[in-house]
This record gives sequence, C-alpha cells and structure tokens, in this order.
Amino acid sequence: MAKEKYTVCSALPYANGPLHLGHVAGVYLPSDIFVRFLRMNDHDVAFICGSDEHGAAITLRAKKEGTTPKEIVDKYNKVIGDAFKDFDISFDIFHRTSAEIHHETAQDFFKVLDEKDHFTKETSEQYYDEEYDQFLADRYITGECPNCKHPSAYGDQCENCGSALSPTELINPKSTLSGKTPIMRKTSHWYLPMERHEDWLTEWIKEGKLDGVPHHDASKWRNQVTGQCMSWIDNGLRPRAMTRDLDWGVKVPVDGGDGKVLYVWLDAPIGYISATKQWALDNNKNWEDYWTGDRKLVHFIGKDNIVFHAIIFPILLKAHEGLILPDNVPAYEFLNLEGDKFSTSRNWAVWLHEYIESYPDKIDELKYVLTSIAPETKDSEFTWKEYQTRVNSELANILGNFVNRALVLTQKYYNGSVPALGELTEADKVVLATIKLIPAKISKFVYDYKLREAQAEAMKLARLGNEYLAETEPWKMVKDPANAERVATIMNIALQITANLSIVLQPFLPATATKLSEFMNFSTSSWDDAGLTDLVPAGHITSKPSILFPKIEDEMVANEAEKLEATKVTETVFDPQKDETSFDDFTKMDIRLGTILEAEKVKKADKLLKLLVDTGLDKRTIVSGIAKHYSAEEVIGKQVTVLMNLPPRTIRGVDSQGMILMAENEKGELSFVSSEKDFDAGFGIH
Ligand code: MF3
Ligand code: ZN
Repeated sequence: MAKEKYTVCSALPYANGPLHLGHVAGVYLPSDIFVRFLRMNDHDVAFICGSDEHGAAITLRAKKEGTTPKEIVDKYNKVIGDAFKDFDISFDIFHRTSAEIHHETAQDFFKVLDEKDHFTKETSEQYYDEEYDQFLADRYITGECPNCKHPSAYGDQCENCGSALSPTELINPKSTLSGKTPIMRKTSHWYLPMERHEDWLTEWIKEGKLDGVPHHDASKWRNQVTGQCMSWIDNGLRPRAMTRDLDWGVKVPVDGGDGKVLYVWLDAPIGYISATKQWALDNNKNWEDYWTGDRKLVHFIGKDNIVFHAIIFPILLKAHEGLILPDNVPAYEFLNLEGDKFSTSRNWAVWLHEYIESYPDKIDELKYVLTSIAPETKDSEFTWKEYQTRVNSELANILGNFVNRALVLTQKYYNGSVPALGELTEADKVVLATIKLIPAKISKFVYDYKLREAQAEAMKLARLGNEYLAETEPWKMVKDPANAERVATIMNIALQITANLSIVLQPFLPATATKLSEFMNFSTSSWDDAGLTDLVPAGHITSKPSILFPKIEDEMVANEAEKLEATKVTETVFDPQKDETSFDDFTKMDIRLGTILEAEKVKKADKLLKLLVDTGLDKRTIVSGIAKHYSAEEVIGKQVTVLMNLPPRTIRGVDSQGMILMAENEKGELSFVSSEKDFDAGFGIH
C-alpha cells in the first residue's frame, strides 16, 4: 500500500462540560483507531484536536454556573484534556481556541476572505432581548424545530434531528436569557453568500470532483452525510452570517467590527489549522505541509456537525485558496443510554472521567464495547448489561481464554519456549491460511471507515485460536508421548496467532496489545507483519501471562444502574396556570383544616377510602380517592385540608360531604396538605 499523507481532525468539543460515552463512541474513539492504524501502516499522519472555547455554548454555561467564560473554558479544557490522556486517545495535539495563535490565525483567515470579497455586509433585523440588551443568535434563542418539530431547537441547529438552522426559521422563538419572545432590531454583519458555491459543492459532494478534477472517492462518504448535504443544497443555500454581536470570541479584525466577534462555526474549524500550527512549532515542522498539497483531510464528527464540516468549512477553505478540502467526513449517529438520550441537563450520562476514575484498569473493556456498538450508520445504545455481556463472553471467554491457554500450556509443556512446527494437517493449513487473510480484511474495513466491522474481524482471529485449541485439545493429546510432535505443532500455531493478535489489536485495544507483546516477548508496530505465520521462531521464550480481562460482576452492573437513577435530574413540566378567576369566586369556597378520626376501605372500590373527619364544626363522612397511596391505618390522626361546601355526593353508596385537598407531583404521587404550625381542626384557609 502506497504511503499517503493524512490530516485527521476530531470535532473540537465545547469546553462547557465533561465528555460522555456518546462523544467517545461517535468521534474520539473511531478517529483514534483510524489514526493508530494509519501510523502502523507508516502513513504520514497528524491527529488534531482541541477544545472549542467560544460561542454561546460557553457563555451560557458561565451564566448558569455564575462564573466567567474564562473560568469555564479553563476548567473544562483540563477536564476534557485529562480524560483524553487517561483514555489514551493519541492526539498529536489537544489545543484550544482561546490561544493567541488561534485568534491570530482566525483573524488572518477572515481578512483574507474579506479582501477577496467572499463576504457581503448586510444590515438586517435580528432577534433582540430588550431585558438583557442583547442580540439573540445561536443558542441564545430556542424554539420549535421546523424540520422535526422538536420543541427546543437552537437558533443555529436542532440537536434532535441534527439540522442546521437560522433563528428566523424557529417556530415560536424565545430568548434563552429572559424566556421572553424577542423583538426585532437592526444590526450589521458579514455574511457568507453560500449560494455562490452551489454548483461546485454539488459536483464535489456527488461526484468527488473539485472543479472538474477528481478529488476524493465519493462512494466512500456515508449516505447520511451526502444525503444531509444534498438536501441542504437542494433547498437552496442562503447567505449565512459569519459575525455576531457578542464580546466573548475572536474579535472581528476589520473596520466596523467593533463589539463583534466571529461566528463560532467560522472560528472553531479554523481551530484545526491553528492547532496544527502550534504542533508544528513545538515539533520543528511546517504547518503548511499538513494543509496543502496531496494530503487527505479527514473529519470525524457527530451528525449534528455535518453541514458545518461538509459545506461551510469547505467553502471557507476553497475561498481562502491553497488549502486542502476534506477527503471524507465520517459522521456518526447518536449513542443512547439505557433506553434514553444522553442528556447533560438531566444528568443522564456516563461521564468518561468518572468511568476512568472508577475503573482505571478497564480502559480497553470500554473501548471494545463502544466500538462494538458504535453508531456508524444508525443510532445505537449503551447499556451496562450489554457491557457486561460483551466483556465477559467476548473479551474474557474468547480472547482472554485463548491467550491464557496458549501461554500457560507453553509454560507447562516447554518452559515458555516456542515449540517447533511439525507436519501440518489439513485443519492446520486452513487455520494458517485464515491468519494470513484477516489483516487485509481489517484494512479494507478501516479504509472504508467501518471500524466496528474492522474490530469484529480482528476478534475473529481470537475466535479462530479459541476454536482451534478447543478442537485439537492439546491438553488431552499431551498425555500420550507419541503425540509430542502433534502437540508442538498445535502450540506453535496457537502462539503465532497470539503474536498476530498483539499486532492486529493495536488500533482497537492498545493496552491489551501491549500486554500481549509483553507476554510474547515480541513486539512490532508494523502492520506489514500482521498475517505472518512465523512471527515467533522455535526456541523463542515467552512469559507467564496474567489475566487479561477479569469478569464483570453483576454487582458492578447493579451499582452503575443505581448510580444513573440516583443522579438523574427529572425535568418537571408543571401544569400551565389556569384562566383568571375572581376574588369573589375564591371567597365562596369554604376551605378549613380537619383531622381524620376514622378510616376504612370502601367495598369493591380499590381507590377509595371512607373517612370520618373532624372539621371543628362537625364530624362528617368524606369519601376520598387516596387508597392507592395510603392505607386506612396510616391516615388516622392526619391533619388535612377540607373543601367544605361542595354539594354532597353519593359515591359507591356512601354519602360524601366535602373533599380532601391533596398535592400531586409529576409521578402522580399524592400528599396531604396540612398546617405547618399544627393549628386545630376548624380554622379556615383564606
Ligand atoms: N464544538 C462543536 C460541537 O461540539 C464542534 C466544533 S468542531 C469544529 O458540536 F469544527 F468547529 F471545530
Ligand atoms: Zn429538528
């Protein structure tokens, strides 16, 4: 395979909160696997990431936490960066868009485009929050999504369906600052007239040609990516504002830009370039080598980022001139968690840094499971139960079991020394042929961005080994000295498989691959060696293995499920306020404190209790629908609130004179309403 040049970028996470497993499964882990594979194949790669530190995502978070944007980005840049390190995501650099080199780079970029007349300046009416004295763009405004009808889409995109929006497209827009309906006010901004680019974009996306010249293999783009882009283009591209009336961000560097900053979706992707610049400076390289010439630019992103990376940023790159455009934009669908969407606001998430803290020795277990369920072509779901099943029945019972057997038996029979290969059976030949074939299949999947299948293919090698030993049963054969040569052959083959596993697992399970190398006293990081069946020669000394994957106990699954439930925040939707009533109507109601004296169940009615209530004025019978929530015994003696002057009613043959008032929460649970100072029955409530 010819050596190629790649610049691989992973979406810059907003520095407004920690990472959860959804982010990891759909962006950072697949890009890391891809890059590790490219490096093993000796391609020239730069792997770039950093935190996205501007935009309303940050300022709104700061407001919510009662602190400054700077504190927020410093905090989360570290939380996220540390989690990436601990999870061993192998970025060449994890940079940040608040860095000076980024501000300069983004401003220069803007000036180049401005000088080349790629912007128009327009004055228009935009949503404005009078109470907060602020224009409302992007996340400062929410409303119903015009596409999927989700009730809380943002002004720049709908996180539910992933479509990119403009504030004016939102149905029933509301300010996220005051919650009020905004007014319109005039302001001037720089716009990118995207409609000028429709023709070349269409050819580029559909045919993979750039101005008539072959650029990339369009058939390798995921349908979802091509589909979303084409539907955007087919709907007609429109001018999109590239500046904002905000003070947090990269200042607009040209005349008239006072008080304005660059749109975060202009600034952030340029972050890939400024991060590359910083990395080049630190490592004696030229950043231009990574953004010009015959180099493949690959963007790993979530589906809500598609048009920004496959339409807007390419327009900017091309307009700038001289810079490369993406070769592919592998976008991931969403990962769900235990039957529900990941949600920061509801704290329905497994946070990467918390997982690492709880299970520092189970990094590869999580990588394995997340790659197995990666939402490559459709949304998928993480459950702790499936995590347990996959670790126990695949990693432990297949991979771990095979490796352990191969190495323990080698210790036992040969003191760790690799035995010589003897005569081969037909079955041996099939196994050896399969070992040779697997690496090429893995490669094909990786180059096609099918990392889930690539990992499954690598696991086939472990399955092959496991089945081979189970079928040949060297532990039985060894009992008869006449089988010595046969056992040696079997063990030699098993050890060649183990050595191969230490290579092909490297992109997916790097820590496990390192352990295998240590057990085998053999190491190579060249993919060219994968598939060889004489990696470890006869006489080579191997070591005693340790257990690769301890079983996941039911207790861990139970603890994690409990933790999720215990820490989740329920968003309650309260009943809207009722229509206005009159003071007169209110005073007509006689509401008093009462005490329950007696209680019994109403026959043949499982919801009803018949109560005798002391109202101060009298002792009266009231039938109340609380039997599902309270037993007769427990309500005796309780203080309650009674609506006295309802007309009497006969309920299931019992005369009821009044009503007990109850509070009800969102789960339909009921609570008595009583007086805080324990006033006597009979006093009125006004
Ligand atoms: N911060 C964005 C998000 O999390 C992604 C930015 S990617 C970049 O959705 F291209 F803008 F850098
Ligand atoms: Zn939507």
